[in-house]
Amino acid sequence: DVASLRARISAWRRAAPASTIAPTIAVVPTMGALHDGHLALVRSALAQADRVVVTLFVNPRQFNDAGDLARYPRTEASDAATLAALGAADRLVLYAPDAATMYPPGFATTVSVAGVSEGLCGAHRPGHFDGVATVVAKLFVQTGADLAIFGEKDFQQLQVIRRMARDLDLPVRILGHPTVREADGLAMSSRNARLSPAARAIAPALARALADAAARLRAGAPAPATLADATEAITASGFERVEYLELRSADDLAPLATPDRPSRLLAAAWLDGVRLIDNFAV
Ligand code: PAJ
Repeated sequence: DVASLRARISAWRRAAPASTIAPTIAVVPTMGALHDGHLALVRSALAQADRVVVTLFVNPRQFNDAGDLARYPRTEASDAATLAALGAADRLVLYAPDAATMYPPGFATTVSVAGVSEGLCGAHRPGHFDGVATVVAKLFVQTGADLAIFGEKDFQQLQVIRRMARDLDLPVRILGHPTVREADGLAMSSRNARLSPAARAIAPALARALADAAARLRAGAPAPATLADATEAITASGFERVEYLELRSADDLAPLATPDRPSRLLAAAWLDGVRLIDNFAV
């Protein structure tokens, strides 16, 4: 619960001798079902901070689809064992609050970030980023962490959280971590386990199409034709549907007709009834 988490964190802060620089505390928010992508974030946190809080909470408020929430894998015991195996138990705590702790009866507050949360995943998952911003704001306040690490795999989420932290003057530094991929290029995700073997063989086509398109854009190819070709390549490979494939400005996610500044190619596509997302820098 929040009280025991806070007790642990203030003991960490008190334990530092007055003569030394106060220990830095990092938080790595997750929904569990930990894979090597999550673990890369945790390792990076351990390398950059003295103490690390990994949070595990399958946040009902960010699921716009009840079936998706019901199917979400819950593997808390093995997640705890995976973290213990990192061999940093003296510097790491797993905080896994229950729903009543996060949303007590009467809970009535929503953090909503305009702009960056609109379009892309925001357009197709109503309420999703409100749910993410609200729970992440609570996790920041509960932990009082100095820094927080998020994956670029969920690039729009990362920018929503950066905007929120800036707008609310939250005293936490937000760090992005590059997407961790399988050997064939597929971005690691707990949803990949839902793919049939045949669909799993098709799945890397999403990353391949985006990487190819990003390379062509960097080489000066016109954006409309390049994006249309990438969409075509994804469906031709066996994906059922491309939900979106867009070129956006990297920092504020403004739509771009041409990559005339640091930009990002982002896509969501359906395969085997599973929604996969990915993105590449241009
Ligand atoms: P979850 O999907 O469990 O992801 C937790 C963190 O791991 C996020 O920052 C996500 O971007 C990162 N991550 C997932 N797959 C990754 C990969 N292949 N490479 C690099 N990082 C990866 O994202 C959430 O949970 C939730 O929305 C949360 C932020 C915890 C709020 O509930």
